[in-house]
Amino acid sequence: MKRRHLISLHDLSADKVQEILTLAAEVKAHPKQYKDTLKLKTLAMLFEKPSLRTRVTFETGMTQLGGHAIYLAQDVGLGKRESVSDIAKNLGRWVDGIMARTFAHKTVTDLAEYAGVPVINGLTDLSHPCQALADYLTIQEKFGDLKGRKIAYVGDGNNVTHSLMFGAAKLGMEIRVATPAGFEPKAEVVAMAREDAQETGAKIEIMQDPHEAVRGVDAVYTDVWASMGQESEAGDRAKIFPPYQVNSKLMAGAAPHAVFLHCLPAHRNDEVTDEVLDGPQSVILDEAENRLHAQKAVMILLMGKKKKK
Ligand code: CP
Ligand code: NVA
Repeated sequence: MKRRHLISLHDLSADKVQEILTLAAEVKAHPKQYKDTLKLKTLAMLFEKPSLRTRVTFETGMTQLGGHAIYLAQDVGLGKRESVSDIAKNLGRWVDGIMARTFAHKTVTDLAEYAGVPVINGLTDLSHPCQALADYLTIQEKFGDLKGRKIAYVGDGNNVTHSLMFGAAKLGMEIRVATPAGFEPKAEVVAMAREDAQETGAKIEIMQDPHEAVRGVDAVYTDVWASMGQESEAGDRAKIFPPYQVNSKLMAGAAPHAVFLHCLPAHRNDEVTDEVLDGPQSVILDEAENRLHAQKAVMILLMGKKKKK
């Protein structure tokens, strides 16, 4: 079941994760060659949370592949106006794929169970796999082969952290995650990523010292201190997280060639200073652009015609 969807990078083989990145680079280099790959296909896009990048890149991606995307806002009422399984079964009769951004991760796995068409996780409280694919595509563009490359994630151990850990594990990288005590990535996610890491030689390290995390790394990553759905905690978190701000001083501890990444949206001068976000090491706009290419690759693999044997 899981192989027909993109719910978590943990579900994919290491080869499949690399295949997506390779196809994404190819689609980016030769977009016209793929213009009819999803001709007359439709993607339904369900959003329980706001979005700029995810909505625009999936919709644009479908257009560029010859298909069409439908934006379905909160008023669909997933599990409120109608049960998630009923919505999934209805959509499955009309469309060729579903992308969903939800609070509960279970909503996306339930959609996958009942829809009968491929389901793509466009961010849940637990993970954000499309983001990590774009992030690793961006790092691959800068440095080539990802195996053995080092990335530091500094800040809140959240959905983005989880997918970065799964991706690093599949790609044979070293990831160091530095968070304040109590804001670590989920223990079961760390355990699952470490299991994957055993197969690829990847290293997953969890720590509290941001300076130790960034020492000598190729890429430094941060995200907001309070994610969507945690708005009421933002004030308390703002008192705890300042030592984890990515600023020029912290960046100086990384390798001289290091790049800075952020999934965006950013809260400027909270988790990252303007100086870093807009500085020469920042690759945030390549990263945002690469959402488009990475997701086109995912949609081609999940929704395109199977190759004849
Ligand atoms: N990075 C990301 O997913 O952006 P949006 O929330 O704008 O979709
Ligand atoms: N961690 C953030 C990512 C936004 C793309 C959130 O969930 O709000």
